[in-house]
Amino acid sequence: MRRTIVTGGAGFIGSHTCVELLAAGIEPVIVDDLRNSEERVLEGLEKITGRKPVIHRIDCTDAQALNKVFAAERPDSVIHFAADKAVGESVRDPLKYYHNNIGSLATLLRTMAKHGIKDIVFSSSCTVYGEGDKLPVTEDSRTGAAASPYGYTKVVCEQMLRDASAADADLCVVMLRYFNPIGAHPSAHIGELPIGVPNNLVPFITQAAAGLRDKLTVFGNDYPTRDGSCIRDYIHVVDLAKAHVLALQWIAKQNAPLCEVFNLGTGQGNTVLEAVHTFEEVNGVKVPFVIGPRRPGDVVAMYADTAKSLKVLGWRTERTLADSMRDAWRWQQALGK
Ligand code: UD1
Repeated sequence: MRRTIVTGGAGFIGSHTCVELLAAGIEPVIVDDLRNSEERVLEGLEKITGRKPVIHRIDCTDAQALNKVFAAERPDSVIHFAADKAVGESVRDPLKYYHNNIGSLATLLRTMAKHGIKDIVFSSSCTVYGEGDKLPVTEDSRTGAAASPYGYTKVVCEQMLRDASAADADLCVVMLRYFNPIGAHPSAHIGELPIGVPNNLVPFITQAAAGLRDKLTVFGNDYPTRDGSCIRDYIHVVDLAKAHVLALQWIAKQNAPLCEVFNLGTGQGNTVLEAVHTFEEVNGVKVPFVIGPRRPGDVVAMYADTAKSLKVLGWRTERTLADSMRDAWRWQQALGK
């Protein structure tokens, strides 16, 4: 069986990708120190796949520890999810973000070189487009003006991969720019585990609906959109996970060095209020909310042009916003907290 190192494999997108890898006959080897996850994700993975996940609990900036993992596991490829991702925290503590997000990728690339591993799939974000010079954004839209230190770490990591690829004639790099990943596995065994008060919309919606939060604040209803709230491209995490498998399989088929970037979104923009109302309708639950001021750093609208992912990877989303909201609610209920 082919084996891939999955850094951050106990995280939200990483854990769902482990499920899809196994389903495709690729063994995930998780590298994750669980700083932003919990044991229950590993238990959930076992329930879904029937296999105990292989995990090495190390920090990806620890070169020695990473070297040992590569020597022991002899992987064929790497998918790199491990990163800090809280936009607000990155503004307060930017060095944590530059150290962890950039340091881990640099360490990983050096370790891969040492062990002759050539294939890497990297978790990037639509945040690299900043405001976006056109909508929907295509992969060749202008990048580089991110809205936060977190966003800049993605810009720098993408550049690091391009530079590494230019210097190493054999490297195969796929960078996946995620739009807004939401939802959970339909089994409700794995899902998102926000720490403390959620920053992201959907975990806040589910916690408000469950009575764990007083009410959701919708950040602004005076934007130039159809109902005044911001527009995002919300993508079901299982659809997103499947794209990683296709990316690895595509790299293997090319049999040539490459460095490519793909948007992973639905291609549909939805407003915050549409997201809230879809949640209410599909689950028959009310979400208490108020309208508040705009959140600094938010872009008005962002959604993906997905033509390249369809044409090259043969990937398209199969799940709707309603599916995502149903699965997010099932997960919140399974969490029971
Ligand atoms: C942000 C990052 C993105 C990152 C993602 C996951 C930017 C520009 N975007 O996306 O790169 O991958 O987080 O961490 O840095 N909203 C509310 N009330 C809330 C929470 C959110 O109204 O309590 C609204 C926001 O204003 C926004 C939408 O919901 O319009 C989505 O927000 P959020 O889930 O935080 O994601 P982004 O900011 O789009």
